[in-house]
Amino acid sequence: MRSVKTSLTGIKPTNTPHLGNYLGAIRPALKLAETYRSLYFIADYHALTTMRDPAALQESIYDVAATWLAAGLDPNQTILFRQSAVPEVFELSWVLSCLLATGQLERGHSYKDALAKGDVPNAGVFYYPVLMAADILLYDTDVVPVGKDQKQHVELCRDVAQRVNHVFGEDTLVVPEVHVGDAPLVPGIDGEKMSKSRGNGIPLFAPAKKLRKVVMSIKTGSESLEEPKEPEGSTVYQLCKQVSPEAAEAMATELRKGGYGWGHAKQALFEALEAELGPRRDVYQAMRADTPALDRILDQGADRARAIAHKTIGRVRHAVGISATSSADLKKTVRLKPQVG
Ligand code: TRP
Repeated sequence: MRSVKTSLTGIKPTNTPHLGNYLGAIRPALKLAETYRSLYFIADYHALTTMRDPAALQESIYDVAATWLAAGLDPNQTILFRQSAVPEVFELSWVLSCLLATGQLERGHSYKDALAKGDVPNAGVFYYPVLMAADILLYDTDVVPVGKDQKQHVELCRDVAQRVNHVFGEDTLVVPEVHVGDAPLVPGIDGEKMSKSRGNGIPLFAPAKKLRKVVMSIKTGSESLEEPKEPEGSTVYQLCKQVSPEAAEAMATELRKGGYGWGHAKQALFEALEAELGPRRDVYQAMRADTPALDRILDQGADRARAIAHKTIGRVRHAVGISATSSADLKKTVRLKPQVG
């Protein structure tokens, strides 16, 4: 029995994280990291199903790494790494795909949505859940913190893990649980769910002036300054509640009293955001500017991740009847050759 449970999640580096990602995913995942052995990785190969600009992908990987570090991820505690740095994930995904019925992939939400929209999805979109299952199973994951939209993927991962265990032995793979966070929906400046595609996002580490400008553009009611106002249901209050419950409580009291305008409420929200994000913004700027340091952190994470992956892949190879020699051993053999020169 392993005593410390493992939590793992993947972050697709397709855009710079916004406040919705921070409140809905990053902050809860960091909370979980306090009590679990945690592996949080940048799913760079998953991004390739849509990204076609290598420079943008590179930048985005650094954006994501610096964001999580600035948000409080401790790289000595949490294993932060690039998915691509542990290629054993592809080896495992092949094995998994041999135990999955194609129908299960045909029922995948993203694949079905793409077809319904009349797109011609690439095979990576179809295969996406297999790679994701391998991501999870390669590291003996117990819990996977994800958003609701990823629940189906984790369920498929559970199915295939159970199938592998049924066929090749119960101790082959750890069957993970999905952990759908209870963080409430984060509204964007128009009151709808904050999302990149809707263009209603609040940037996480933009300069204070820019942040204030965006906050001031949040849609509100049009009551006069004097009128008492109902905070419940307003975007400004909902956001403030998630950033700082204390500031939100004070805001609610003022709004209900009257003589306090939506402009005041937005200023209060801006100040709450600045208190939470200001210090982190400074860390972000410093880290984002130092890509060699980011590379070092990601590489060290990859070394630790690989050590776990080697054990799993060795177990899987053995279980299915492929030579138990893992690529780890192969690498060792190569290194043992005397160096020339
Ligand atoms: N598919 C996830 C997303 O789009 C990213 C991801 C890739 C992931 N591999 C994972 C999440 C493994 C959890 C576990 O957000």
